[in-house]
Amino acid sequence: MNSNSLVSIADISREEILSLLERARYFEEHPNSKILDGRVVATLFFEPSTRTRLSFETAVNRLGGRIIGFSDPGTSSSAKGETLKDTIKMVSNYADLIVMRHYLEGAARYATEVTDIPIVNAGDGANQHPSQTMLDLYSIYKTQGRLNDLTITMVGDLKYGRTVHSLLMAMKYFKPKFIFVAAKELAMPQEYKDFCDAEGIQYTETTDFSPEVINQSDIIYMTRVQRERFTDPMEYERVKDLYTLHNAMLADSRPNLKILHPLPRVNEIDIDVDDNPKAYYFEQARNGLFARQAIITRALGINPLDTAEK
Ligand code: CP
Repeated sequence: MNSNSLVSIADISREEILSLLERARYFEEHPNSKILDGRVVATLFFEPSTRTRLSFETAVNRLGGRIIGFSDPGTSSSAKGETLKDTIKMVSNYADLIVMRHYLEGAARYATEVTDIPIVNAGDGANQHPSQTMLDLYSIYKTQGRLNDLTITMVGDLKYGRTVHSLLMAMKYFKPKFIFVAAKELAMPQEYKDFCDAEGIQYTETTDFSPEVINQSDIIYMTRVQRERFTDPMEYERVKDLYTLHNAMLADSRPNLKILHPLPRVNEIDIDVDDNPKAYYFEQARNGLFARQAIITRALGINPLDTAEK
């Protein structure tokens, strides 16, 4: 495995996370530094995406690199039965870095085992989404001025939501308090609650998205109920409309509260929240560009601070 790969947020230390956040800040100030001249990045998306793929590709374009890849696996030879192993080995002949989204948990880890070039996991099933976590951390830091000692309420699909799983693991360094709001069918999986227990992270669970919960939160992290993860359509129908955040529910919330959502949303945040200054999800997605510029340059072993004009 190439040690510059980013497969799980658990693969990187607190210091590396803080260093990536510092890089993201640099790129927010210098988004068009041409430091990837001659580098080729492949984006292989076996699942749909808007933000992750386009922000990775924008990140490369703004840094002067080149992009190859596919957004629809139906246009690649995987549609003819080519294995993931062979696809990764082929693309490794052409690119310096692979950014991959796949519907199978563990696919990105597997990819690191069949190539020497770095792999960045852009989401593997319900498992991990580490680049989303970096932009989430950057968004939390920008809006709260710190990462430590925050109350973070996660709402919605906590079972299949890879973004909440990654974020929960990354926050272990920053003494969070979590409130998990979910229907029993979509509760935070036991392995992540065990993780919290092992790391001494406080959490409470509730099915009630109550004023008491909202009004003690510094961050409310809303999530979509992901139809594509359900094997039973009736179960999806039962839980899909349980939690919707409306503007009126924020009347007595903390002044510093920010509403995050990895997006896309369906109906879990009413559009009447969009004009509330506490709504941060569109800026959050914009931060993805800078966080991914940081991740790409780390993966390619390029330090923008070394190449910056003095
Ligand atoms: N947040 C996120 O992963 O969005 P996309 O599915 O549009 O990439």
